Amino acid sequence: MKRLVIGRGSVFADLLIIGEAPGAQEDLEGKPFVGKSGKLLDELLQKAGIDYKKNVYFCNVIKCRPPNNRKPTAREINIQKPWLLKQIELVDPKFIILTGSTAMKTILEVKDPISNLRGQWIKKDGREIMAIFHPSYLLRFPSKEINKPYHLTLKDLENVRGKLYAV
Ligand code: URA
Repeated sequence: MKRLVIGRGSVFADLLIIGEAPGAQEDLEGKPFVGKSGKLLDELLQKAGIDYKKNVYFCNVIKCRPPNNRKPTAREINIQKPWLLKQIELVDPKFIILTGSTAMKTILEVKDPISNLRGQWIKKDGREIMAIFHPSYLLRFPSKEINKPYHLTLKDLENVRGKLYAV
């Protein structure tokens, strides 16, 4: 672990995207979602018509890279959660996308598998929140066929685009 990875994008954004934790590239650059997963996420946002340079702020549940890319522990998440909640309060987005089950479970405090909840809008603390598959999952299952993870995620992001630009 080299550095803290706090966020990237516009702090005035209406859309906040939360990931799990920095990977190797994020650790090198000090910015979230700049590795392979991040590139795929940027591509999906662009395809869905979301201007990620202007309308999105990206951050993670965990601000420093876990050793050997392991999943963050429950203890690490609990220790860092107040920091994430403060970040949400400061950016004050109307919409939040939770990528993958770590972000989903941390913010929504549910135990469901992501496949049950992804794509659904959930209201919490005055914000509209949607969980989507993590882009690293799409990298592992790259098929672009209808109803496969890539296609479902693109549909989810198009749904987000509809709300984001309707405000
Ligand atoms: N990069 C991030 O910043 N977060 C993730 O969850 C995955 C890759």
